[in-house]
Amino acid sequence: MVKTINLTKKYGDFYAIREIDIDLAAGDCFGFIGPNGAGKTTTMRIIATLSQPSWGEAYVCGHSVLTEPEEIRRLVGYMPDFFGVYDDMKVIEYLEFFAAAYRIHGPQRRTKCNEMLEIVDLDFKRDAYANTLSRGQTQRLGLARTLLHDPQVLLLDEPLSGLDPRARIEMRALLRRLGGLGKTIIVSSHILPELADLCNKVGIIDKGVMQVNESVADVMKRVRERTVLHIQVAGDQEPAAKLLEQSPLVDKVEVVKGEIRATLHSGSEDYTELPPLLLSAGYKLKLFREEEINLESAFMALTKGTGANF
Ligand SMILES: Nc1ncnc2c1ncn2[C@@H]1O[C@H](COP(=O)(O)OP(=O)(O)O)[C@@H](O)[C@H]1O
Ligand SMILES: [Mg+2]
Repeated sequence: MVKTINLTKKYGDFYAIREIDIDLAAGDCFGFIGPNGAGKTTTMRIIATLSQPSWGEAYVCGHSVLTEPEEIRRLVGYMPDFFGVYDDMKVIEYLEFFAAAYRIHGPQRRTKCNEMLEIVDLDFKRDAYANTLSRGQTQRLGLARTLLHDPQVLLLDEPLSGLDPRARIEMRALLRRLGGLGKTIIVSSHILPELADLCNKVGIIDKGVMQVNESVADVMKRVRERTVLHIQVAGDQEPAAKLLEQSPLVDKVEVVKGEIRATLHSGSEDYTELPPLLLSAGYKLKLFREEEINLESAFMALTKGTGANF
Protein backbone atom coordinates (compact mmCIF):
# COMPACT_ATOMS: atom_id res chain seq x y z
CA MET A 1 0.00 0.00 0.00
CA VAL A 2 2.79 2.40 0.94
CA LYS A 3 6.37 1.86 -0.08
CA THR A 4 9.35 4.17 0.04
CA ILE A 5 12.76 3.28 -1.34
CA ASN A 6 15.86 5.28 -0.42
CA LEU A 7 13.63 8.28 0.11
CA THR A 8 15.85 11.30 0.61
CA LYS A 9 15.19 15.02 0.91
CA LYS A 10 17.89 17.65 1.01
CA TYR A 11 17.53 21.33 1.79
CA GLY A 12 20.73 22.78 0.39
CA ASP A 13 23.45 20.62 1.90
CA PHE A 14 21.26 19.50 4.77
CA TYR A 15 19.64 16.07 4.72
CA ALA A 16 16.15 16.36 6.24
CA ILE A 17 15.69 12.62 5.58
CA ARG A 18 18.17 10.12 4.26
CA GLU A 19 17.41 6.80 2.54
CA ILE A 20 14.14 6.06 4.28
CA ASP A 21 12.61 2.66 3.47
CA ILE A 22 9.05 2.00 4.55
CA ASP A 23 6.93 -0.93 3.40
CA LEU A 24 3.33 -1.18 4.56
CA ALA A 25 0.54 -3.56 3.61
CA ALA A 26 -3.20 -2.92 3.73
CA GLY A 27 -4.35 -2.65 7.34
CA ASP A 28 -0.91 -1.85 8.73
CA CYS A 29 -0.64 0.86 11.33
CA PHE A 30 2.85 2.32 11.33
CA GLY A 31 3.97 4.34 14.34
CA PHE A 32 6.47 6.89 13.09
CA ILE A 33 8.38 8.02 16.12
CA GLY A 34 11.13 10.57 16.51
CA PRO A 35 12.06 13.81 18.26
CA ASN A 36 11.25 17.20 16.77
CA GLY A 37 13.17 17.87 13.60
CA ALA A 38 13.78 14.15 12.94
CA GLY A 39 12.15 14.18 9.51
CA LYS A 40 8.65 12.79 10.14
CA THR A 41 6.71 15.63 8.54
CA THR A 42 9.12 15.74 5.60
CA THR A 43 8.54 12.03 4.91
CA MET A 44 4.77 12.26 5.25
CA ARG A 45 4.52 15.32 3.03
CA ILE A 46 6.39 13.51 0.28
CA ILE A 47 4.08 10.50 0.51
CA ALA A 48 1.12 12.93 0.39
CA THR A 49 2.68 14.43 -2.80
CA LEU A 50 2.95 17.86 -1.17
CA SER A 51 6.71 17.89 -1.55
CA GLN A 52 9.13 16.15 -3.89
CA PRO A 53 11.99 13.90 -2.85
CA SER A 54 15.55 14.86 -3.79
CA TRP A 55 15.98 11.24 -4.73
CA GLY A 56 14.50 7.88 -3.98
CA GLU A 57 10.91 6.88 -4.62
CA ALA A 58 7.60 6.62 -2.83
CA TYR A 59 4.59 4.64 -3.98
CA VAL A 60 1.01 4.51 -2.76
CA CYS A 61 -0.96 1.51 -4.05
CA GLY A 62 1.64 1.14 -6.77
CA HIS A 63 1.40 4.77 -7.93
CA SER A 64 4.57 6.82 -7.92
CA VAL A 65 4.61 10.20 -6.17
CA LEU A 66 6.80 11.46 -9.01
CA THR A 67 4.64 10.50 -11.96
CA GLU A 68 1.12 9.89 -10.61
CA PRO A 69 0.46 12.42 -7.84
CA GLU A 70 -3.18 12.88 -8.86
CA GLU A 71 -4.02 9.22 -8.31
CA ILE A 72 -2.27 9.30 -4.96
CA ARG A 73 -4.22 12.33 -3.76
CA ARG A 74 -7.41 10.39 -4.25
CA LEU A 75 -6.10 7.51 -2.16
CA VAL A 76 -4.47 9.42 0.66
CA GLY A 77 -5.85 11.46 3.54
CA TYR A 78 -3.22 13.71 5.06
CA MET A 79 -3.78 15.44 8.36
CA PRO A 80 -1.09 18.06 8.99
CA ASP A 81 0.24 18.63 12.49
CA PHE A 82 -1.23 22.09 12.53
CA PHE A 83 -4.08 23.42 10.48
CA GLY A 84 -6.11 26.56 10.76
CA VAL A 85 -9.88 26.54 10.79
CA TYR A 86 -11.83 29.42 9.41
CA ASP A 87 -13.15 31.66 12.15
CA ASP A 88 -16.43 32.48 10.55
CA MET A 89 -17.45 28.95 9.60
CA LYS A 90 -19.58 26.53 11.49
CA VAL A 91 -18.30 22.98 11.90
CA ILE A 92 -20.74 21.58 9.35
CA GLU A 93 -19.99 24.41 6.90
CA TYR A 94 -16.29 23.75 7.24
CA LEU A 95 -16.76 20.10 6.33
CA GLU A 96 -19.13 20.88 3.48
CA PHE A 97 -16.60 23.33 2.10
CA PHE A 98 -14.00 20.57 1.87
CA ALA A 99 -16.54 18.02 0.67
CA ALA A 100 -17.27 20.38 -2.23
CA ALA A 101 -13.55 20.58 -2.94
CA TYR A 102 -13.54 16.77 -3.12
CA ARG A 103 -16.43 17.05 -5.61
CA ILE A 104 -18.95 15.43 -3.31
CA HIS A 105 -22.20 17.00 -4.53
CA GLY A 106 -25.94 17.01 -3.95
CA PRO A 107 -27.68 15.50 -0.94
CA GLN A 108 -24.77 13.09 -0.64
CA ARG A 109 -22.63 15.94 0.63
CA ARG A 110 -24.71 16.66 3.73
CA THR A 111 -25.11 12.93 4.45
CA LYS A 112 -21.38 12.34 4.14
CA CYS A 113 -20.49 15.27 6.40
CA ASN A 114 -22.96 14.16 9.06
CA GLU A 115 -21.54 10.66 8.87
CA MET A 116 -17.99 12.00 9.38
CA LEU A 117 -19.10 14.07 12.38
CA GLU A 118 -20.52 10.93 13.91
CA ILE A 119 -17.35 8.96 13.31
CA VAL A 120 -15.23 11.55 15.12
CA ASP A 121 -17.90 12.12 17.77
CA LEU A 122 -18.47 15.73 16.96
CA ASP A 123 -22.10 15.74 15.85
CA PHE A 124 -23.03 17.67 18.99
CA LYS A 125 -20.88 20.55 17.68
CA ARG A 126 -22.16 20.59 14.13
CA ASP A 127 -23.58 24.14 14.41
CA ALA A 128 -20.83 25.57 16.60
CA TYR A 129 -18.30 27.97 15.10
CA ALA A 130 -15.09 26.13 14.28
CA ASN A 131 -12.94 28.59 16.23
CA THR A 132 -14.81 27.84 19.46
CA LEU A 133 -13.68 24.20 19.50
CA SER A 134 -11.09 22.90 21.95
CA ARG A 135 -7.77 21.64 20.61
CA GLY A 136 -8.98 18.03 20.83
CA GLN A 137 -12.21 18.85 19.02
CA THR A 138 -10.31 20.78 16.35
CA GLN A 139 -8.06 17.76 15.81
CA ARG A 140 -11.14 15.56 15.45
CA LEU A 141 -12.64 17.99 12.96
CA GLY A 142 -9.36 17.84 11.03
CA LEU A 143 -9.61 14.08 11.04
CA ALA A 144 -13.21 14.22 9.79
CA ARG A 145 -12.03 16.42 6.95
CA THR A 146 -9.21 13.97 6.18
CA LEU A 147 -11.70 11.08 6.00
CA LEU A 148 -14.22 12.78 3.68
CA HIS A 149 -13.07 11.16 0.44
CA ASP A 150 -12.77 7.75 2.11
CA PRO A 151 -9.00 7.43 1.67
CA GLN A 152 -7.33 4.01 1.80
CA VAL A 153 -4.21 5.47 3.36
CA LEU A 154 -4.14 7.90 6.27
CA LEU A 155 -1.14 10.07 7.04
CA LEU A 156 -1.67 11.60 10.46
CA ASP A 157 1.01 13.97 11.62
CA GLU A 158 1.16 14.16 15.42
CA PRO A 159 -2.59 13.84 15.94
CA LEU A 160 -2.09 13.43 19.70
CA SER A 161 0.15 16.38 20.33
CA GLY A 162 -1.16 19.24 22.40
CA LEU A 163 -4.14 17.25 23.64
CA ASP A 164 -5.12 16.98 27.27
CA PRO A 165 -5.20 13.45 28.70
CA ARG A 166 -8.89 12.97 28.09
CA ALA A 167 -8.76 14.18 24.48
CA ARG A 168 -5.74 11.98 23.99
CA ILE A 169 -7.63 8.89 25.12
CA GLU A 170 -10.53 9.77 22.81
CA MET A 171 -8.23 10.33 19.84
CA ARG A 172 -6.43 7.05 20.47
CA ALA A 173 -9.75 5.20 20.58
CA LEU A 174 -10.68 6.87 17.31
CA LEU A 175 -7.41 5.85 15.66
CA ARG A 176 -7.93 2.30 16.83
CA ARG A 177 -11.39 2.31 15.23
CA LEU A 178 -9.93 3.54 11.94
CA GLY A 179 -7.36 0.74 12.02
CA GLY A 180 -10.29 -1.64 12.46
CA LEU A 181 -11.72 -0.36 9.17
CA GLY A 182 -8.72 -1.80 7.35
CA LYS A 183 -7.10 1.52 6.46
CA THR A 184 -3.35 1.75 6.19
CA ILE A 185 -2.22 4.33 8.70
CA ILE A 186 1.00 6.22 9.26
CA VAL A 187 0.79 8.11 12.52
CA SER A 188 3.65 10.16 13.89
CA SER A 189 4.59 11.18 17.40
CA HIS A 190 7.58 12.58 19.22
CA ILE A 191 6.52 10.71 22.33
CA LEU A 192 8.10 7.32 22.53
CA PRO A 193 5.59 4.81 23.86
CA GLU A 194 2.46 6.70 22.92
CA LEU A 195 1.72 4.82 19.72
CA ALA A 196 3.14 1.40 20.30
CA ASP A 197 -0.05 -0.26 21.45
CA LEU A 198 -1.98 1.24 18.54
CA CYS A 199 0.46 0.11 15.89
CA ASN A 200 1.68 -3.18 14.48
CA LYS A 201 4.85 -1.66 13.03
CA VAL A 202 7.18 1.03 14.29
CA GLY A 203 9.84 3.19 12.77
CA ILE A 204 12.11 5.24 14.96
CA ILE A 205 13.71 8.12 13.11
CA ASP A 206 16.37 10.51 14.33
CA LYS A 207 18.22 13.20 12.39
CA GLY A 208 16.67 12.00 9.16
CA VAL A 209 17.83 8.40 9.57
CA MET A 210 15.60 5.44 10.43
CA GLN A 211 17.13 3.75 13.48
CA VAL A 212 14.61 0.98 13.98
CA ASN A 213 12.04 -0.24 11.48
CA GLU A 214 10.22 -3.45 12.29
CA SER A 215 7.06 -5.01 13.63
CA VAL A 216 6.06 -4.30 17.21
CA ALA A 217 6.04 -8.07 17.81
CA ASP A 218 9.68 -8.34 16.70
CA VAL A 219 10.66 -5.36 18.80
CA MET A 220 9.15 -6.99 21.86
CA LYS A 221 10.78 -10.30 21.09
CA ARG A 222 14.15 -8.66 20.70
CA VAL A 223 13.82 -6.84 23.98
CA ARG A 224 12.43 -9.84 25.78
CA GLU A 225 15.46 -11.89 24.84
CA ARG A 226 17.22 -10.78 27.97
CA THR A 227 15.82 -11.04 31.43
CA VAL A 228 16.80 -8.37 33.95
CA LEU A 229 16.42 -9.00 37.66
CA HIS A 230 16.17 -6.38 40.37
CA ILE A 231 17.65 -7.67 43.60
CA GLN A 232 18.31 -6.10 46.95
CA VAL A 233 19.92 -7.63 50.00
CA ALA A 234 20.18 -6.24 53.51
CA GLY A 235 23.33 -4.18 53.98
CA ASP A 236 25.98 -3.68 51.33
CA GLN A 237 24.98 -4.71 47.80
CA GLU A 238 28.47 -5.02 46.33
CA PRO A 239 29.54 -8.41 47.73
CA ALA A 240 26.20 -9.96 46.77
CA ALA A 241 26.59 -8.46 43.28
CA LYS A 242 30.03 -10.08 43.01
CA LEU A 243 28.59 -13.44 44.00
CA LEU A 244 25.80 -13.17 41.40
CA GLU A 245 28.29 -12.23 38.73
CA GLN A 246 29.90 -15.64 39.15
CA SER A 247 26.71 -17.51 38.32
CA PRO A 248 26.78 -18.96 34.80
CA LEU A 249 23.25 -17.61 34.29
CA VAL A 250 24.31 -14.03 34.76
CA ASP A 251 25.89 -11.96 32.04
CA LYS A 252 26.19 -8.57 33.67
CA VAL A 253 25.69 -7.05 37.10
CA GLU A 254 25.51 -3.47 38.20
CA VAL A 255 24.44 -1.70 41.35
CA VAL A 256 22.00 1.14 40.69
CA LYS A 257 20.26 3.19 43.38
CA GLY A 258 21.00 0.64 46.08
CA GLU A 259 19.70 -2.23 43.97
CA ILE A 260 21.47 -4.94 42.05
CA ARG A 261 20.47 -5.21 38.40
CA ALA A 262 21.45 -8.58 37.02
CA THR A 263 21.10 -9.14 33.30
CA LEU A 264 20.93 -12.81 32.40
CA HIS A 265 22.51 -14.35 29.32
CA SER A 266 20.13 -14.49 26.41
CA GLY A 267 18.18 -17.70 26.57
CA SER A 268 18.40 -17.94 30.38
CA GLU A 269 14.94 -17.50 31.73
CA ASP A 270 14.89 -19.89 34.65
CA TYR A 271 16.56 -18.07 37.51
CA THR A 272 15.11 -20.08 40.39
CA GLU A 273 18.59 -21.07 41.53
CA LEU A 274 19.61 -17.48 42.26
CA PRO A 275 17.68 -16.77 45.50
CA PRO A 276 19.00 -19.97 47.17
CA LEU A 277 22.50 -19.00 46.02
CA LEU A 278 22.23 -15.70 47.88
CA LEU A 279 20.45 -17.18 50.90
CA SER A 280 22.95 -19.99 51.36
CA ALA A 281 25.75 -17.41 51.35
CA GLY A 282 24.00 -15.73 54.29
CA TYR A 283 22.38 -12.75 52.55
CA LYS A 284 18.95 -11.57 53.55
CA LEU A 285 16.85 -10.91 50.49
CA LYS A 286 14.80 -7.71 50.56
CA LEU A 287 13.82 -7.65 46.92
CA PHE A 288 13.88 -10.10 44.06
CA ARG A 289 11.86 -9.41 40.96
CA GLU A 290 12.04 -9.58 37.22
CA GLU A 291 11.98 -6.27 35.40
CA GLU A 292 8.74 -5.69 33.58
CA ILE A 293 9.05 -4.86 29.97
CA ASN A 294 7.27 -1.71 29.24
CA LEU A 295 7.31 -0.18 25.83
CA GLU A 296 9.25 2.80 26.96
CA SER A 297 12.17 0.76 28.23
CA ALA A 298 11.93 -1.43 25.13
CA PHE A 299 12.45 1.57 22.89
CA MET A 300 15.16 2.95 25.10
CA ALA A 301 17.00 -0.36 24.83
CA LEU A 302 16.58 -0.45 21.07
CA THR A 303 17.76 3.07 20.44
CA LYS A 304 20.65 2.90 22.92
CA GLY A 305 23.90 3.59 21.15
CA THR A 306 22.20 4.74 17.96
CA GLY A 307 22.54 8.35 19.01
CA ALA A 308 18.76 8.73 19.04
CA ASN A 309 17.90 11.23 21.67
CA PHE A 310 14.38 11.31 23.11
N1 LIG B 1 11.39 23.95 4.01
C1 LIG B 1 12.46 23.63 4.73
N2 LIG B 1 13.65 24.23 4.53
C2 LIG B 1 14.74 23.91 5.23
N3 LIG B 1 14.77 22.97 6.20
C3 LIG B 1 13.62 22.33 6.46
C4 LIG B 1 12.40 22.62 5.75
N4 LIG B 1 11.44 21.81 6.22
C5 LIG B 1 12.00 21.07 7.19
N5 LIG B 1 13.31 21.38 7.33
C6 LIG B 1 14.26 20.75 8.28
O1 LIG B 1 14.23 19.36 8.07
C7 LIG B 1 14.35 18.67 9.31
C8 LIG B 1 13.19 17.72 9.46
O2 LIG B 1 12.02 18.46 9.71
P1 LIG B 1 10.59 17.78 9.92
O3 LIG B 1 10.39 16.78 8.84
O4 LIG B 1 9.60 18.87 10.04
O5 LIG B 1 10.80 17.02 11.30
P2 LIG B 1 9.70 16.43 12.32
O6 LIG B 1 8.37 16.45 11.63
O7 LIG B 1 10.18 15.05 12.64
O8 LIG B 1 9.72 17.32 13.52
C9 LIG B 1 14.42 19.73 10.38
O9 LIG B 1 15.77 19.94 10.73
C10 LIG B 1 13.83 20.95 9.72
O10 LIG B 1 14.36 22.10 10.27
MG1 LIG C 1 6.66 17.35 12.25
